Amino acid sequence: MSKHKQRDGINTEKTSNDDVRDYYSQCHSIYHEKWSDDSDRESIHYGYFDEGTETLGEAVHNMKSKLADSVDLGPDDRVLDCSGGYGDNATWQAKERGAEVVGLNISPLQLSYARELAKERGVDDKVEFREDDFTKMETVEDNSFDVVWGLESICYADDKREFLEQAKRVLKDDGRIVVTDWYMEKRDLSFIEDLMVTQWLKGWRLSNYAHIDDFQDDLADLGFENITSENAEDNIMKSAFDIFLFSLWGYPLGKLLNFFGRQNDTELGNAVACFYQYPALKSDAVTYSIVSAEL
Ligand SMILES: C[S@@+](CC[C@H](N)C(=O)[O-])C[C@H]1O[C@@H](n2cnc3c(N)ncnc32)[C@H](O)[C@@H]1O
Repeated sequence: MSKHKQRDGINTEKTSNDDVRDYYSQCHSIYHEKWSDDSDRESIHYGYFDEGTETLGEAVHNMKSKLADSVDLGPDDRVLDCSGGYGDNATWQAKERGAEVVGLNISPLQLSYARELAKERGVDDKVEFREDDFTKMETVEDNSFDVVWGLESICYADDKREFLEQAKRVLKDDGRIVVTDWYMEKRDLSFIEDLMVTQWLKGWRLSNYAHIDDFQDDLADLGFENITSENAEDNIMKSAFDIFLFSLWGYPLGKLLNFFGRQNDTELGNAVACFYQYPALKSDAVTYSIVSAEL
């Protein structure tokens, strides 16, 4: 068990890159056809609901704007997008903020959709997608990016510090970083909190969430300054609740379809996670924050 999992107090199996690739292939129809079912909304994240936000599409747009504003993203910036997914973040950074972008992902399936999306959005001259692990960044040169960006993706790193060390290496001297994610906010979990978080992690094929304090301590330890953390729990609860509601019918239906061989076990596990994420977020165990910092 890694140092970070002991610090977080969560006891799940380590998730390998093969597990993650397999998970996103098996759940492709959930993520691509159902969650990001709109050509303007190819994202797989909760979105940011504030006063006046009516649709998930608006919330998804708001979330990207929040991240971009937190690192003052502009046309002179070169961004390393570590969000993965179907390329929505990377293409948005290029189209809406004029940035030059390199997007990393370990899923060849998602990368093929991302490259198509860049063409569709007319930014394929500004965005390049690479198959690379954001905890290794083997294709990424030292000191070559202004911004490193992660949205609901860095949680997949077994050891988040490995990602932060790479981010530090590839950022220029005045580089900025933003990582929006679920974080633990409690260390000693009750039996029920442990059950909720563990079932959620297992269903979405994650091995742990970093504790928010440890994540910020690691940033400081690596030399990042002006570390800020905006708690966005209230702004994502609408999506968390909608996903929970989906699980109430999605799981029983999935069980039936699974019996007839029409839905796979991974999709069923996804529905279990969709159920547990809501009460876990409502508890004091887990939080959701936009963390940004600069070198
Ligand atoms: C929940 S999705 C986030 C999607 C994205 N934020 C969006 O808005 O569409 C998590 C993504 O992280 C990617 N991922 C997981 N582990 C990774 C790693 N070690 N290196 C690069 N990408 C990874 C997955 O393939 C997946 O695309």
